Amino acid sequence: MNSRKARIAVLVSGGGTNLQAILDAEKEGILTSGEVTLVISDRADAYALERAKKAGIPGKEIAKKFCGSQEAFEQKLTEALEENRTDLIVLAGFLSILSESFVKHYERRIINIHPSLIPSFCGAGYYGLKVHDAALARGVKITGATVHFVNEIPDGGEIIAQKAVEVEPGDTSEILQRRVMEQAEWILLPRAVETVSREIVGA
Ligand code: GRF
Repeated sequence: MNSRKARIAVLVSGGGTNLQAILDAEKEGILTSGEVTLVISDRADAYALERAKKAGIPGKEIAKKFCGSQEAFEQKLTEALEENRTDLIVLAGFLSILSESFVKHYERRIINIHPSLIPSFCGAGYYGLKVHDAALARGVKITGATVHFVNEIPDGGEIIAQKAVEVEPGDTSEILQRRVMEQAEWILLPRAVETVSREIVGA
């Protein structure tokens, strides 16, 4: 019986509600094959870093603007990830671009949560509320969230899991975003992290 847990690094930029869902899943026994051992934010004021601190998990701020170039930014990211002996990288509301070479170095070891049913409303420029603005503008009746492997195409990697959410009359982007987070993202992501972690350590 392999009891090793996958060492998970979560990359964030904002409130960290998806990070919190993963941490809660560890406590609730939903995530047993992996453990969050590092949180990296590309913004110093991300509340996600506060959540990491409260959970006793090391947090780092690595921002491209202080690194000077994409290459230096990714070098610092890689150093932190390797020091952490990272098995799995989870992008949870992470907004910085990662280069093709960085992503290829971690093939099938980076997953992302996107707040729509890919291939709808995804790709360059679709993040945060913009995703829900587009869904409402198109008039879809069903939206949701997707967890996928990250490859060199924005939101183009193999889909791991999806969960549908109804759009309701009178929805604003903010109301819809919250419903998608509550009913899809916070349920889907921890379970996908468990599935991929088990693949990694079970292998
Ligand atoms: C949200 O828009 C969520 O849909 C997307 O990233 C944003 C921030 O999420 N995945 P979080 O609260 O920082 O996890």
